[in-house]
Amino acid sequence: MTNSHAARDIDTSRPHSARMYDYYLGGKDHFEVDKQAAENVASAYPGIFTCARENRAFMHRATRVLAREHGIRQWLDIGTGIPTEPNLHQVAQSVVPDARVAYADNDPLVLKYAERLMRSTAEGRTTYIEADVNDPQSLLDAPELADVLDFGRPIALSLNALMHFVPDAQDPYGIVGRLLDVLPSGSALALSHCTPDFDPETWQKVTDIYNNAGTPVQFRSREAVARFFDGLDLLDPGITVGHRWRPDTEPTSTDAEVSLWTGVGIKR
Ligand SMILES: C[S@@+](CC[C@H](N)C(=O)[O-])C[C@H]1O[C@@H](n2cnc3c(N)ncnc32)[C@H](O)[C@@H]1O
Repeated sequence: MTNSHAARDIDTSRPHSARMYDYYLGGKDHFEVDKQAAENVASAYPGIFTCARENRAFMHRATRVLAREHGIRQWLDIGTGIPTEPNLHQVAQSVVPDARVAYADNDPLVLKYAERLMRSTAEGRTTYIEADVNDPQSLLDAPELADVLDFGRPIALSLNALMHFVPDAQDPYGIVGRLLDVLPSGSALALSHCTPDFDPETWQKVTDIYNNAGTPVQFRSREAVARFFDGLDLLDPGITVGHRWRPDTEPTSTDAEVSLWTGVGIKR
């Protein structure tokens, strides 16, 4: 992608997490500055491509399980990322055609491509809002949300590869708690989160690359990730490395390559 394609408010002078992630997934919606930062990450941690792929695969499986086995028909997906097929609503609507999905991200480039997230089935609905998870009240107050989601019925809150961009100083547990508070019983939290647990030295390098690029990150231990699920009933197999959460096929990658804790919990 060349800079001439950028909207005015897209900052191409420094790398952005959504565009670096697009590079890890083999997408085309990133700039040279993102590619360079992503390649720095990949030279410190070659597993990043596996991690990104397994993260998407977890989203697919968790979405299908919630739709098939837990009656979920609505999703609030925050930190959506640049559209990557199949997007969450396409996975959900392949199981339940009337699924409703509200997406939110704070990267203006995601907004630029948001119409790709709006290609819903006729029976279902989708919407996209530009919002920051660090301000959950403004996000929840967005009128587009109430147009698409019925807060009287269960909603799955999907926070995939997002909360490691919210350091402890920004009260990540309080934010997730506030989002879950407004959801009725039977709602769900599906969350994935990168971890230094399997190779702390490598992940310190990854942390330094993001922090030096102006994107604060805090990759967390299994115990710290488990805290996001406090008070929820965890579905089997609990909190596991991404490729071990109800895999469709026998996992072939190592835990260190994937380095991603994942889980799905249900609100009582
Ligand atoms: C690694 S991508 C994950 C994309 C997608 N959820 C997935 O798992 O495939 C992280 C996304 O979170 C978004 N993000 C980072 N900080 C955010 C914030 N404070 N509020 C909303 N979105 C944020 C980034 O713009 C990016 O699109």
